[in-house]
This record gives sequence, C-alpha cells and structure tokens, in this order.
Amino acid sequence: MKAVLTQSQSEIFMNCVRKAVLPVAGLGTRVLPATKSVPKEMLPIFDRPAIQYVVNEAFEAGIEHIVFVTGRNKSSIDDHFDRAYELEASLREKKKYDILDQLEAERPIAGSMSFVRQQSPLGLGHAVWCARDVIGDEPFAVLLPDVLVKATPSCLTQMIAAYNDRGGNIIAVEPVPHDQVNMYGIIEPKSRDGAIIEMAGMVEKPSIDDAPSNLSITGRYILQPEIFNLLSNQPRGSGGEIQLTDAMATLMKTQDFFALEYEGESFDCGSKQGYLRAFVRFALDHEREGEASRATLRRLLDENAASSV
Ligand code: G1P
Repeated sequence: MKAVLTQSQSEIFMNCVRKAVLPVAGLGTRVLPATKSVPKEMLPIFDRPAIQYVVNEAFEAGIEHIVFVTGRNKSSIDDHFDRAYELEASLREKKKYDILDQLEAERPIAGSMSFVRQQSPLGLGHAVWCARDVIGDEPFAVLLPDVLVKATPSCLTQMIAAYNDRGGNIIAVEPVPHDQVNMYGIIEPKSRDGAIIEMAGMVEKPSIDDAPSNLSITGRYILQPEIFNLLSNQPRGSGGEIQLTDAMATLMKTQDFFALEYEGESFDCGSKQGYLRAFVRFALDHEREGEASRATLRRLLDENAASSV
C-alpha cells in the first residue's frame, strides 16, 4: 500500500532539520605544516579524527544525512567513513571485537552521506551554496568542523530544541574576549529571553572598535533554504570571500532569526593552541583513558617545571 502523508504530517516532515552541511574544503593554513598532506579535519583529537566528533554531534542531534562540501586532497575523509574490509577482517581474526564494535558504532549507515566539491576557495558562503541541490527546499544545519563543541546535550541538540520551539533560523553564539572579536562573526543583540537572543544585525570579523558586542558566531547554524538564493548573489565581503554571515544578515530582514547562547565549551581546532586545548580536554574526559591521561599530563608538567627551575 502506498503511504500517503496528510497535510499536517508533510508540514512536520518538511520543517524537520534532517540534513547537515559540513564544509571541509579549507586548506588548514593556520596549522601548517601538519596539514600539508593531511586534511585538518583528519588530525586526531586523542583517539579520533576531529571530523568524527562533529559527525557524531550531527547524528546524535537527529540529522539523517550529511553533505560534505569538500575539495582536492580530502579523500581520506570519505575513506574514514567507509568500511575498511582488510582492517576489519584482520581485527576479526585477532578477536579484537571491542575495536570492531567501536568502528561499527561510529560508521554512518550506507547512503547517509553525500560529497560535493567546492572547486574554488571562495569562502564559507560559497561552500554552503555548493550544497544547495542536495539540501533542496528544506531547513538544514551547518556545522563547521574546525570548531569542536563539548556540551551535554550537544550544541546542535540544544539548537534543534530551540528551533522546534521557535522555528526560523538559529545560530549558536558565545562570548569571546573583546580583543578577539575581529576573528569571528559577531552579532548585534537586541533583546534576550533566557538563552535566546533577538538580533538587530550581525557582521563578519568587525574591527575591535566597531564590534557591536562580544558575542561570536560559534560555527553551528540552522538555516532556511532561502539562504541559497541570497548566497547566489552575495558580493564578496570580509577577506574578499563570499561570507555566510553577510547572507544571513540579509535573510534576517525577512525571516525570524535567533541566536542561542548555548551551554558548553568550544575549541577552535583550526589554530595550534585551540587544537592543543581540544586534544588535552578530550584526552582528560575520555571514558577509559581519562585517568591515564591525567597522570601523563601531570608527570609532563612536573618534569617541565623541574627542568625549567
Ligand atoms: C567562520 C565564520 C565566522 C565564525 C567562525 C567560527 O569564520 O565565518 O562567522 O565566527 O567561523 O569559528 P572562519 O573561522 O572560517 O574565518
């Protein structure tokens, strides 16, 4: 029998956030030379590549399909999310069932990922626009894989809860030191209802003197598909790139748009110190290895203090 959706069922279906875009075409210049031949998204954060944490965040939040916007020399990302037959056979032969189970648990089901190429490094707005055909006419999430967020529930889960309540478009924000506002998209808050902030505007990488606040855009977005048309005509902005923030600032004029000050801690893995902080934090909080990690780090710091006396 053919399943026919009633109108309200299909409205609910259309309003669900089912797909997520992960832009992974960036060159990782801030962490060179580590990223000369390894994509920055594949650098390990303790025992997993950074991208795995972001994919886990998306699926945990209920996302069903991930669109990677990728570029040249990034094929190890596709491979990471595929089966590795020889490896699995060898692990089975050695009866290493716990590792096999872990690989299995974190491998997305077949058909739940698409890969499109950005072709030219024209900016984040252009990268998101490249996913338009796969996303189609429905709301979607964007997760920037440079940014890992440690939060319970996850940052995207908090955003989807806010979206189910309010609809519209939602971006995650967090306060940053005032002397760093020129490194981020910054919002201009208008009013606040708990963690939800209504905005008067947003600007990509303002100068420290012109920044409208110190609330930065974290790298997690829920957007309506109308953003794609705006991105098609978006002139180049900050850094000569097509900026997602500029298109969002226009969309805000015609649609509901909220910022959510999420609860959690973010790590900018695109910088060396951010990467180090993430690596150490995830090692310290690791389910099985946390205690050993603490002992190792304590020993290292003690040795370092002793040798610098
Ligand atoms: C991008 C966004 C910016 C956001 C930042 C978060 O900038 O354009 O609005 O605040 O990510 O990390 P990028 O770091 O790619 O220059």
